[in-house]
Amino acid sequence: MNDTLKIIKERSSVRAYTGEPLSEDEIRAIVEAGLQAPTARNMREVHISVIPGNHPLLKEIDIENKSIMLENADAAAKDAIMGNPNNFYYNAPCVFILSVDKDFVWNKVDAGIAVENMSIAASSMGLGNLIIGIISRAMSGNKKEYFAKALNFPENYEFAIAFAAGRKAADKAPHDYDYDSSVSFI
Ligand SMILES: Cc1cc2nc3c(=O)[nH]c(=O)nc-3n(C[C@H](O)[C@H](O)[C@H](O)COP(=O)(O)O)c2cc1C
Repeated sequence: MNDTLKIIKERSSVRAYTGEPLSEDEIRAIVEAGLQAPTARNMREVHISVIPGNHPLLKEIDIENKSIMLENADAAAKDAIMGNPNNFYYNAPCVFILSVDKDFVWNKVDAGIAVENMSIAASSMGLGNLIIGIISRAMSGNKKEYFAKALNFPENYEFAIAFAAGRKAADKAPHDYDYDSSVSFI
């Protein structure tokens, strides 16, 4: 198995980080991996906002997201949300928010490819990382314009996906999959 296949096979979502910050070189390598991803028609429309884990904006997004989730939750779900001690990025030292042109038909596919490139890159550097979709509620709610401005989204851009990276404080095994039922050879 070559190095790339090994990294893909061993990658898993990390939800526990040490407080150690990423270096500028590490952040740059992750961002460049995102920007090097292919995009439909070579539009290169994916924008990446980089936020340090201790930035108050992350807390604001987390609070807004939980409050929207609570509005639509039944009693059991409310208990789960209130009892969850974690924020959406699990205190990772660096969070990346990917935004895309609202009107480009392939926008979310392009962002998905970019974020997976970032995940593979971070994993190859020995860093734990997590792809994060849960904040789509906060990013599309009443405060969406405020968050878009604070995160410096380009004009006519919207949230696509988020990503967190840092040094692992705990490991998790990669997910299982059922090869036979997931594949058809025609
Ligand atoms: C589009 C997308 C959104 C995700 N959003 C979240 C999220 O908001 N929070 C979270 O903890 N994990 C999130 N995940 C991680 C998945 O839960 C995880 O990839 C899945 O459980 C498989 O586990 P593994 O990555 O360890 O193999 C997301 C993954 C993807 C691809």
